[in-house]
Amino acid sequence: MKAIRGAFLDFLHDPFYRDEQDAIRYLPDGLLVIDGDKIADFGRYDQLADKYADIAMDHYANRLIMPGFVDTHVHYPQTEMIAAYGEQLLEWLEKYTFPTELKFQDKTYARSVADRFLNMLLMNGTTTAQVFTTTFPQSVDAFFEACSERNICMIAGLTGIDREGLAPAEYRDTADSFYTNSKDLIERWHMKGRNKYAITPRFALGSTREQLDRCGQLKGEYPTAWVNTHMSENHKEIAQVAEAFPEASDYLNVYERAGIVGPKFTAGHAIHLSDDAFQRMSASKCSISFCPSSNLYLGSGLFMIHKAKSLETPVLVGLGTDMGAGDCFSILRVLNDAYKVAALQSQKLSVFKGLYLATLGGAKSLMLEDEIGSLDPGKYADLVVLDLSPTPALAFRAQNNPFGKDQTSEEHQCARMEHDAFGTMMLGDERSVEATYVSGQLLHRKTGTPVH
Ligand code: GUN
Ligand code: ZN
Repeated sequence: MKAIRGAFLDFLHDPFYRDEQDAIRYLPDGLLVIDGDKIADFGRYDQLADKYADIAMDHYANRLIMPGFVDTHVHYPQTEMIAAYGEQLLEWLEKYTFPTELKFQDKTYARSVADRFLNMLLMNGTTTAQVFTTTFPQSVDAFFEACSERNICMIAGLTGIDREGLAPAEYRDTADSFYTNSKDLIERWHMKGRNKYAITPRFALGSTREQLDRCGQLKGEYPTAWVNTHMSENHKEIAQVAEAFPEASDYLNVYERAGIVGPKFTAGHAIHLSDDAFQRMSASKCSISFCPSSNLYLGSGLFMIHKAKSLETPVLVGLGTDMGAGDCFSILRVLNDAYKVAALQSQKLSVFKGLYLATLGGAKSLMLEDEIGSLDPGKYADLVVLDLSPTPALAFRAQNNPFGKDQTSEEHQCARMEHDAFGTMMLGDERSVEATYVSGQLLHRKTGTPVH
């Protein structure tokens, strides 16, 4: 057993639907006890200190400790091509993405990128992600092997494309090879250790009707598997999907017809949606990955977060970097873009709403809230330790926090934290991440900042 002492913040409820102060749990001086890979106890330091007086303790003074961030949509094979110049989705895929992903036929190469990618996530405080791979099964094996070594919770799956003309022939699979390889990978990796499998048709435009039907068949055979894909991202893509699937009433209906929409189904992007599609997504209890950095970078559009988080058509929402279309690995930077995407639609994204999406909201959108997303005992000890003033700009902003250090009431301390945490939501990046714990193990520590 070991313990961590410091200021802790997590969520007990969804602040989009509750008074924000009731939704948060903030302990300015807390103690979190870890037994093996799980949280064993959590509470105020003054109430738990005697009980755990004999165990080793890491004390983080002047830091904010939260559940690790959840990235619900990201592409590990695109690590090397982040920040590709000048194209929108379909041209970007053709010009940069498929040529890069072809390299993942080589398993040794795939493994080296998987290691680099996971280390980058940890450096940014992300401890769980839903990850796209390629059409090559060895790229999935390489990824799960890298995850297994770290005992980290990742969802991933073979990423199918079988439609002619969409990707180079050497990159494409077939409906049958996708089915057989997916089945084999599910048997090998799904629920082995902390690994979880997502049946992953890349997007409707990349798949034939047969391949999507095979996805439905796999979901029937493995109902505990996740399903991960892209949807309604780009106008040109949406027009081509309508042509390719004339029988479908809209993009979502292509997936509905394949029988894959429901709990544990994530649609990445979902930018251009009718009210009727929001209604159907809400009723089906599927989820959306909001990827604002990518949506701005590729010029795809503005996701309507206020519709997804409305009382009328509530849809589960998590955040995605969508790296390499997204230009960062950092969920904090994604929150900066999310704030601006909301602002362009005259909406406000508060720091507690943002950090909820980054943690418990993301976990719930993946139906992983029993394992991760908050600091409740019984969940995995996946944590991020944030430095709220790691840069001159943030330090100066914090020095001028209107809620000064001289007042010590709980409300005052919480307001002070809220102000500094909002600074981090807008100006933070990997410099804000002092340490990252996965399954109770310290897997990242910022160079030059020793654990106190
Ligand atoms: N749609 C199909 N493939 C991709 C991809 O790799 N990135 C994004 N952003 N959208 C896609
Ligand atoms: Zn994507």
